[in-house]
Amino acid sequence: MIIEQNKAFLLNGNNFTYAIRVNALGDLQTVYYGEKLSATDLDFMQKSVADPCIPALNELNRETYTDGLSNEFGSFGRGDYREPTALVVRKDGAQMSSFRYVSHKIFKGVPEVKGLPHARSGGDTLSVTLKDEFSDVEVTLNYTVWDELGVIVRNAEYKNTGKDPVSLKKAFSFAVTLPERDYGVLRLYGNWAKERSPQVTPLGYGTVRVQSLRGSSSHCMNPFMGLLAENCSEDAGECYGVQLVYSGSFALTAEKNPANGTVRLQGGVNDTGFEWYLEGGETFVAPQAALCYSSEGLGGMSRAYADFLRERVINPDRVFARRPIVINNWEATYFDFGYEKLCEIIDAASELGVDTFVLDDGWFGKRDSDTSGLGDWVVNEKKLKGGLNAVIARCKEKGLKFGLWFEPEMVSEDSDLYRAHPDWAMHKAGTVPVRMRNQLILDFSRKEVVDSVFGAVSKVLSSHEISYVKWDMNRTMTEFFSAALPAVRMGEIAHRYILGVYDLAERLTAAFPKVFFEGCAGGGARFDAGMLYYFAQFWTSDDTDAYERTKIQWGTSVCYPVSAMSCHVSACPNHQTRRTTPFATRGAIASLGATGYELDPSKLTEEEKKETKAQIEAYKRISELVLKGDLYRLSSPFTENYFCEMLVSKDKTTAYLVGERFHGDPNDYMRILRLNGLDDRKTYRIEELGFTASGKALRTVGVPFPRLSDFGGWTWHLTEVK
Ligand code: GLA
Repeated sequence: MIIEQNKAFLLNGNNFTYAIRVNALGDLQTVYYGEKLSATDLDFMQKSVADPCIPALNELNRETYTDGLSNEFGSFGRGDYREPTALVVRKDGAQMSSFRYVSHKIFKGVPEVKGLPHARSGGDTLSVTLKDEFSDVEVTLNYTVWDELGVIVRNAEYKNTGKDPVSLKKAFSFAVTLPERDYGVLRLYGNWAKERSPQVTPLGYGTVRVQSLRGSSSHCMNPFMGLLAENCSEDAGECYGVQLVYSGSFALTAEKNPANGTVRLQGGVNDTGFEWYLEGGETFVAPQAALCYSSEGLGGMSRAYADFLRERVINPDRVFARRPIVINNWEATYFDFGYEKLCEIIDAASELGVDTFVLDDGWFGKRDSDTSGLGDWVVNEKKLKGGLNAVIARCKEKGLKFGLWFEPEMVSEDSDLYRAHPDWAMHKAGTVPVRMRNQLILDFSRKEVVDSVFGAVSKVLSSHEISYVKWDMNRTMTEFFSAALPAVRMGEIAHRYILGVYDLAERLTAAFPKVFFEGCAGGGARFDAGMLYYFAQFWTSDDTDAYERTKIQWGTSVCYPVSAMSCHVSACPNHQTRRTTPFATRGAIASLGATGYELDPSKLTEEEKKETKAQIEAYKRISELVLKGDLYRLSSPFTENYFCEMLVSKDKTTAYLVGERFHGDPNDYMRILRLNGLDDRKTYRIEELGFTASGKALRTVGVPFPRLSDFGGWTWHLTEVK
């Protein structure tokens, strides 16, 4: 709901109020962002947060000197000394800017965000247009809220309304001023096989910046930032979050102003190396950012984000539909397979109850190792006798569907594609390119490159019965040089690349609506809301160890739904950590997401085969909770000897709890697990324990942790008893 009163606006979601206004000088200012309030308080809010009284300023200085004001768009060179939201360079070289109100409109629905993933439907939108006093650049700030959701979606559109070109050296998506508090900054950092570890550090005065310069959102830093108030815990207290609906190089900054302790939170496409050239009449559309306020701690924020992504971002045809339970051959064979080996896997898998066999890397071109073949999306019939059709026929015979791996954005120097089009790789002739995993990245800023990949992948998909695609991306961007872009536009390449990726994803998913697409990026490097717009699930990490995965999945759940996490059971000793964990624990941890198997089923013992069948049957029982439930994180693998999470149905009648005990410790057998998230007034039966208790008793008295040995896992099913 959006209410307007004399150029002051109150935007309400289900649990928050966001209020802004245009002040007498035309500055658009944050008035309030926090707990939900009613429109009757709008007038008071404005008076209460009137421009701070800066003693040195007389009325004349006030016109221009904006430092410390809660402006929703940070200017440059005009007295606001915080980091600007945009940097506009005019023809004469001047860079000062000051954006002031021109007009606004309020409408039903979401703004159009061409070429970028975005919130899909519903809601109410406020668009406020500001104009730079020193150039012909107008910026339109969009704000969308939904009555039933806890997020506000923001973005900015930059239009050059003049004749002379200007250049944007920075063009962030949003800025907001948060009230003075002692915030902790939460970021999700990581590395390959260690994605999205939560870390909190004090914000302090000055700027904290989380970013990626890798051309993708990356293993190392997720495009998310949380600002946690002093009272914020997992279950209570206040926090703010922001996540970008974007998959490229990004930056999110929080800057605490020494003058008054307020915080400017802003972000968007990373401005390092960025420069967007805007001819007269051209517009640059910045990606969306989803801001969240929670008064129910981090858990509340995570659930709000899960609802937002499921309801408004992820493909509605896919998001709540049953996911295929796959078996993938990567860890079973790596590059070393032929038709016979695949048949062995398919035959053994068909007895376990999985739906789909996924053939991973190595089926195309000259691809027996990672040194060659990428880009040649033609079946290697020498390696795979009878081609894909023979494998697909075997799958069909055995009652399985067939899925296939691609890495569309990449090229090996030893490939026919590279030999034909060396300039299609993103590098600068005459320089030794940075090689990662022996491969180069294709220049997706060029339409002909995207068209060609679309053609090659489409050809495979349309000539075979393929129901599932794993779209991988195994290296990050370097050189940032395109043989096709003019010099003035070279700073656009990283963003243009991502627009190319989105274009290909849009076209392929539209052309093959029956194919289920899973995203992947050397594990979970590009796990972000941008990719989730196209792919309902993403490979969470190459690390499938049942201990490491508790941490990776916990961190990922901070701002993504469990249904978006692809989670597989793999063989032990684990290929990444060499650790051995019980098969049952691996199954339990992998059931907290889109489950599957990443092993050679022909090598399973009879006992393990029986367990796999039982795991798959048990998973079918809880798959609705994985798709639609609310997640409650009960015991953190980062601080406790137990991991424990529970999925609760929206009506609170059923719940599914998964736990793991890490190390033997005689003293922690006395520990009690308190079950948050149930309905206090309902009575539940815990099937495995055979007892009933009220939701309130389960929350307050709790249940003793089960007695398990190292890395022992458990699952409990809770049902309401009437
Ligand atoms: C990446 C993926 C793996 C696998 C390999 C194949 O590392 O994350 O799951 O597909 O590539 O090369």
